[in-house]
Order: sequence, then structure tokens, then C-alpha cells
Amino acid sequence: MNALVVYCSQTGSARTYAVWLAEDLGCDAVTLDQLDAKGPACDLVVLCSWFHAASIKGAKRFRAYMGAHPNQRFAVVAVGANPMPCADWPAAEKEEAFRHSFPADSYPDLPWCYCQGGFHFEKLSAIDKIAMRIYFAMLQKEVDKGSKRDAVALRMMREGFDGCNRAYLEPLKEQLGI
Ligand SMILES: Cc1cc2nc3c(=O)[nH]c(=O)nc-3n(C[C@H](O)[C@H](O)[C@H](O)COP(=O)(O)O)c2cc1C
Repeated sequence: MNALVVYCSQTGSARTYAVWLAEDLGCDAVTLDQLDAKGPACDLVVLCSWFHAASIKGAKRFRAYMGAHPNQRFAVVAVGANPMPCADWPAAEKEEAFRHSFPADSYPDLPWCYCQGGFHFEKLSAIDKIAMRIYFAMLQKEVDKGSKRDAVALRMMREGFDGCNRAYLEPLKEQLGI
């Protein structure tokens, strides 16, 4: 399969997954700005990007490219700081967030998976540092009301972590038949 992985990454997690997936596909992993130059020669183009306030960075650009290349196959790896689906962090929440960027009525068959990335406050842009300080204050209010889930999330983000795990790509590889 002639494939390409394009990625959008601020602190490195989505890039890590892009490189792993490109190794598995035997193809290149390049930044999203190279999509128009390198994408058209490929059968499959995968976007590997991160959740930013429940939207996927670069999704608008990727959707425009998908619309202009109806005969290519596409897939998405959505990376976030939240834990992998479990009782406290249901898969339905990930699906809902993913569908903000790729609505089910327009992209019913788009293969995708969620992969936990990491959180590295010191590597964020100035504007994202401000956004996260506001978000931390919101989470703290929930923690004060007794939310155990938010307490875990807040502690992990305050301390910083790298939750990248190559195995999290398996569901997408299965959907793609690789
Ligand atoms: C402003 C901002 C908003 C974020 N919103 C979400 C979110 O809605 N859901 C989520 O799971 N992670 C969210 N994150 C966490 C990032 O998606 C996570 O840190 C990811 O691993 C970053 O990828 P990167 O290392 O490739 O930049 C947010 C991070 C920032 C800075």
C-alpha cells in the first residue's frame, strides 16, 4: 500500500504516533503542511493529530483535502491527554469529541482511533498555557466538589506525563487491514 502519514503536533505525542504508524505502513511521516505536496501520490493518507478543546487540530485542512481527493482512502489518529477508554473515561466521550471534527453523517466510514498522548505544560505555546491555566482552575472547582476523575486528570497534567503506547494504534491497524 502506498501510504502517507501527516501529523500536527505541538509537544511531540502525535508525532510519536505518526512515526510509529509510518513504520508499520512502510511510509513517510511528514508535517501537515506537506499534505498537498505529498498526499496526491498515495492510496492512503492518515492524519495524526491532537485534541484541542475537543476539536482535532488540522481537521479543517484535512477535510478540505479529503473533499478534493474523493478517490483516496483516509484515516485519523486522534491523540489526547485523557486516559484510554475505561469506566471513568467512556469511549462515547472520545467518539463525541471526534465527531465535532468529523461528523458521522459526512464521514460515516472514516477509520479512526483514539490514542492517549501526554501532557507537557512547559512545551505549550503562550496562548495554550493561558488556556490550560483556566482549564486547571475549572477542574479544581470540580475536584473541590468531590470529582475523583478530575482529581486524577488534574494531578497528571500538573505533574506532566508521557502516556504514548504503540499498542494503542492496533485498533486502527486492524481497521486498515495491516
Ligand atoms: C489548549 C489545550 C486543549 C486541550 N484539549 C484537550 C481535549 O479536549 N481532550 C484531550 O484529551 N486532550 C486535550 N489536550 C491535551 C492534548 O491533546 C495532549 O497533550 C496531546 O498529547 C498533545 O499532542 P502533541 O504532544 O502532539 O502536541 C489539550 C491540550 C491543550 C494545550
